Amino acid sequence: MSFWNRRRGAPAAELLPVHVGIIMDGNGRWAKRRGLPRKEGHRQGAKTFRKIAEYASQIGIRYLTVYAFSTENWKRPKEEVDSIMQLLREYLREIERYAEENVRLRFLGDRSALDADIRELMERAEAGSRNHTGMTLNIAINYGGRDELTRAVKSLAQSCIKGELSPVDIDYAQIAARLDTAGQPDPDLIIRPSGEQRISNFLICQSAYAEFLYMKVLWPDFTPRHFDRALWMYSRRSRRFGGLSA
Ligand code: FPP
Repeated sequence: MSFWNRRRGAPAAELLPVHVGIIMDGNGRWAKRRGLPRKEGHRQGAKTFRKIAEYASQIGIRYLTVYAFSTENWKRPKEEVDSIMQLLREYLREIERYAEENVRLRFLGDRSALDADIRELMERAEAGSRNHTGMTLNIAINYGGRDELTRAVKSLAQSCIKGELSPVDIDYAQIAARLDTAGQPDPDLIIRPSGEQRISNFLICQSAYAEFLYMKVLWPDFTPRHFDRALWMYSRRSRRFGGLSA
């Protein structure tokens, strides 16, 4: 039996990435293969999301960021967009019933374009989980790395106009403090299932030194075992951050 196929669980805590990002891709193809509408792929994808978030929290991942809806996804048919928003609504309503769970919920992206009821549910979820000490779960919704960077630059320009900041003092820390992930560590590992090999505007600033892992499995079929496998592959990578190996 090969190294990867042995059932071995997750690596030891000291080998785990602190922050994992996931581009939940392949829902449409999963549905198409079954002759189902695309929204059924997203429904299955949302179930996988719940399972993987629970598993990640259980094994000690400190930050998990999932890409649920990008700034470019508005180009999809309205019915598909509505179905993703409805899944988000259902999830946000459901987590209100599980307030005792220790996960801290955060949302990345521009909320202004979202329906008011979703924005309110998001605010309630963030406020209700603010003091939780377990895994931070970031859900990226109407999120795009370029849009996030543009918002950060606007905020820096405002600070300069107000005289709070001089342009010569702008450094990356000032920019990072204005990103949606302010205060959080950068992702160590970014997983993209479905076989596509691109970043698609996901955490483009934060992923400067992330390890990337592309897997063939479609997101709705992704299981905790695939997650373990990704974590093992990560644990065998040598990270140098531009320096030399120790
Ligand atoms: C990409 O697959 C997936 C999306 C654009 C939507 C992802 C959304 C979910 C998994 C549901 C989110 C729900 C919650 C509760 C967070 P695709 O449709 O582009 O797949 P394809 O490339 O096979 O067509």
